[in-house]
Amino acid sequence: MTLWKQLLSRKSIETLLAEMAGEHRLRRVLGPFSLTAIGVGAIIGAGIFVMTGRAAAQDAGPAVVASYMVAAFGCGLAALCYAEFAAMAPVAGSAYTYAYATLGEILAWIIGWDLILEYGMSCATVAAAWSHYLNELLLALGLPLVGPGLSLDPFTHSDKFGSYLALNFPALGIMVLVTTILVIGIRESATANAILVLVKLVVVLFVIAIGVSYIDPANWTSIPVDAAGQASHDANRWGLLGVLGIDRWLQPLDEMIRSPFAPYGLSGLMLGASIVFFAYIGFDAISTHAEEAHNPQRDMPIGILVSLGLCTLLYVGVAAVITGMVPYHKIDIGAPIAAAFSQRAAAENSALLRGATALIATGALAGMTSVLLITFQSQVRIFLAMARDGLLPPAVAEVHPKYQTPHLTTIVTGILISVIAATTPIEKLGEMVNIGTLLAFVIVCFSVLLLRRQRPDAVRPFRCPVIWLVAPTGIVVNVIMMLFLPLDTWIRLVVWLVIGLVIYFLYGRHHSTLGQRLWREFSTQGLSPTDAPLPRD
Ligand code: ALA
Repeated sequence: MTLWKQLLSRKSIETLLAEMAGEHRLRRVLGPFSLTAIGVGAIIGAGIFVMTGRAAAQDAGPAVVASYMVAAFGCGLAALCYAEFAAMAPVAGSAYTYAYATLGEILAWIIGWDLILEYGMSCATVAAAWSHYLNELLLALGLPLVGPGLSLDPFTHSDKFGSYLALNFPALGIMVLVTTILVIGIRESATANAILVLVKLVVVLFVIAIGVSYIDPANWTSIPVDAAGQASHDANRWGLLGVLGIDRWLQPLDEMIRSPFAPYGLSGLMLGASIVFFAYIGFDAISTHAEEAHNPQRDMPIGILVSLGLCTLLYVGVAAVITGMVPYHKIDIGAPIAAAFSQRAAAENSALLRGATALIATGALAGMTSVLLITFQSQVRIFLAMARDGLLPPAVAEVHPKYQTPHLTTIVTGILISVIAATTPIEKLGEMVNIGTLLAFVIVCFSVLLLRRQRPDAVRPFRCPVIWLVAPTGIVVNVIMMLFLPLDTWIRLVVWLVIGLVIYFLYGRHHSTLGQRLWREFSTQGLSPTDAPLPRD
């Protein structure tokens, strides 16, 4: 019974706010502009620069533009819920902390563990994608490429060349660089981030501005549905829905939507949304910086909503340009945006377009580097929040005497991410990140709704409009995107969560600060642990 109570014990909003006022907190240095820059820095990266290619070529066709809109809709609803929570409890733990306040310790742990999957694996995915653009840049500059054995993971290498003898060295290299920057210090990385964000915004706008003139509307309207070949035509795009047999009910809708614009019907469009969802991940990272905001109550919602809105517009623009420039089945799946320009440069023998390709590849590398910096930093903040609550060992929060950064956590996490990035295929990594993040969004939508019921009186500097519609719709849309992901991705998520639960029961449960307080009160004062935390600890 007492165990059960510990698992469900919650931190009140008042406790969170009191903790924020305590010592050892991060300095409040970020305004609305910096927070939005962090959002854009964390959002624009491998999703738009790399995954658009696979989603357009293999899953959705030109309808990848609509996939981007569907994913933006799901993210927008979750972002409104994040904004309410982030303004209310501006502490570093993001969704982990929100779950601790509403759903109890065990679910907070699960979501924290899930966020580790989101941020850690997303760094690995972006690092793995980095090498594609490095090669595009080298190609545009006429320099020798990094060979496949040195720039591919062993599995992709084996698919293409029949041998597993390969490692993605550029992925390793960029992770070592990012880890070093973060160990040396936050101040240096903030300046680096501002420059990288500016470069990538200019490049994305450049792609849209130049690419518009190369659009051929026929690429949207008149490519035969089976142009990509039978294998691609036959692929199952229903994910878990197919395994559950629900696809049979949706077939008529699938056929209704099928057209040259959406060659793979509803299932392709939705699978595309579940894939390009990756491109939006990162706005939630702003909420892990809440402790450093000057005026978090006002600036967190601004940062979250403005960065997401801006990136949505840019993504839809880029997706329209790429599918308009290149027939969907010919879109490159490694570095689609640079390749669209390099193919055109080759066809027209244009030095100007070759220069444009080099510029785009540079912007993509800068963009992905800033995603790595911020996402990795967010990962470390989640670890810090969990260690402060006693759910992870205190060494996790240990700060370097000279650099004042959590060096141990950063280095160990950096090594793990580097190894994963160098050895795992990017599609599998990306799908795993997406399912973990979608789950986090679902839990945040649910938590914010629950807290409206549990604590209608709590001060809410930002109130999500029509929460009774926004939060449930957010849950439904994000669950639907999860359902389009394949069974193996679901299995990996379950395995990950089970590993997390084992760690919690072996370590976190015995060391949790809140749990220890409950058990102390129980044993020394004869109080029932049920008295303390529910519903306002
Ligand atoms: N949204 C980030 C990216 O696309 C994770 O790289």
